[in-house]
Amino acid sequence: MKITFYGHNSLQIEIENTVILVDPFISGNPLSKDTVAIHSLKANYILLTHAHQDHTLDAEAIAKNTGATIVSNWEIASYYGAKGIAVHPMNFGGSWQFDFGKVKYVNAIHTSSFADGSNGGQPGGFVIESEHKNIYIAGDTALTMDMKLIPMQTKLDLAILPIGDNFTMGVDDAIIASDFVQCEKVLGVHYDTFGYIEIDHEEAKRKFYDAGKDLMLLEIGESIEL
Ligand code: NI
Ligand code: MN
Repeated sequence: MKITFYGHNSLQIEIENTVILVDPFISGNPLSKDTVAIHSLKANYILLTHAHQDHTLDAEAIAKNTGATIVSNWEIASYYGAKGIAVHPMNFGGSWQFDFGKVKYVNAIHTSSFADGSNGGQPGGFVIESEHKNIYIAGDTALTMDMKLIPMQTKLDLAILPIGDNFTMGVDDAIIASDFVQCEKVLGVHYDTFGYIEIDHEEAKRKFYDAGKDLMLLEIGESIEL
């Protein structure tokens, strides 16, 4: 499993020949819009945690360009389905065995309206189990006790957690979240994109290190292999 960071909560996950994009927000991100060309991205699936524009802005264009299937909650899937895009609707606590692996849509505490005011349902996160590697994509969320449910069923290899504070968990709560999901290896997301969520990278890494954990902060376009 190869994971590439495209800024904010935008990720590309490659599992054998399948390409999964998560929360594509690139053309509106001042940190990635000049380095990542959305028309060159490949995708078989686009996973959307919630409807906010900083997670969905480029989903429609990429889906139409690639024919990718959008996977999200019922309301978001219905929104894109009405535009003629292939969709797979899910809802909380539900899992589906896709050709690349098993996906579960899990709880998050946040909000989820579309930029045009359409109903984006409730926000969520994803647990993906594939190739004997298990990852948790928290999406935008507060620290929540529901995170403790995840390791009851899944031994995680990586937790992808927001750390930018203000709109989501900050670093201190993300450290507690990594305890709750029982995963010491964390990829930080949802920081630096806007003024409200700029963070001190070295301080964030040191706090995780002091807690006995490993925080990775990737450059735009940088990849890790699990
Ligand atoms: Ni959001
Ligand atoms: Mn967000």
